[in-house]
Amino acid sequence: MPDSISNIPTHVAIIMDGNGRWAKARGLPRIMGHKKGAEALRSALDACMKAGSRYLTIYAFSSENWKRPIVEISDLMELLRTFLDKEIAALHRGGIQLKVIGDLSKLAPDIRAQIEGAEALTKDNKKFNLIVALSYGARQEIIQAMRKVAELSASGRIAPDTIDESFISSLLYTHAIPDPDLLIRTAGEQRLSNFLLWQSAYTELYFTSVLWPDFTPKHLQEAIAEYSNRERRYGTRSE
Ligand code: IPE
Ligand code: IPE
Ligand code: MG
Repeated sequence: MPDSISNIPTHVAIIMDGNGRWAKARGLPRIMGHKKGAEALRSALDACMKAGSRYLTIYAFSSENWKRPIVEISDLMELLRTFLDKEIAALHRGGIQLKVIGDLSKLAPDIRAQIEGAEALTKDNKKFNLIVALSYGARQEIIQAMRKVAELSASGRIAPDTIDESFISSLLYTHAIPDPDLLIRTAGEQRLSNFLLWQSAYTELYFTSVLWPDFTPKHLQEAIAEYSNRERRYGTRSE
């Protein structure tokens, strides 16, 4: 990152979209797009660290992606197994802490075990935080938080005025993680697709038509450069 860019997002979130279109444009099976996408992720992670961010949250598989054909889902799960198998040692060496957020009960037991192992291995790493949203849906995340609120309330452990913003945040998968500063979505779609709805209340949104497998550190730097020129007002008056 050039020194002139001072305002670096602490937390970058990315909706990595367009793997299917990337493959289709080349007459390749969709899985090839997902594989190339996993490579793009490695360089984006590296670039985020170099830029000076501290957190990267990536949308890897949504709760709605379970509606895809079984063949694509099993290809993606296999890719995930390989990624966890091959990359965890390198992430750990790089001082990166891994956290997976989402409804993990839907995943195969061996993948859940791999995730638990990876999280346990990297839990004390402080250099950078990689958060993988997997089988993740923001509405489901809010539902599970509301259920906890109902339980605590029904058993008399909380009063209504205990429920404030920080209390709700503490019940989400992302408790202890700051809200994203910059959210990037690739492949031209301009929607959140059920990603971090509570957490992105004041996040700066950045949309690019670049397909995720084509997304390079240069594209990330462009997004960060644009972010650094934005004025975040949080409802206050403009300067
Ligand atoms: C994003 O790429 C990856 C996942 C949703 C798992 P897509 O598979 O959605 O690619 P497009 O949107 O069809 O091009
Ligand atoms: C969002 O992309 C989910 C991920 C990138 C993992 P989708 O491709 O599933 O989103 P929609 O269906 O176009 O909204
Ligand atoms: Mg898509």
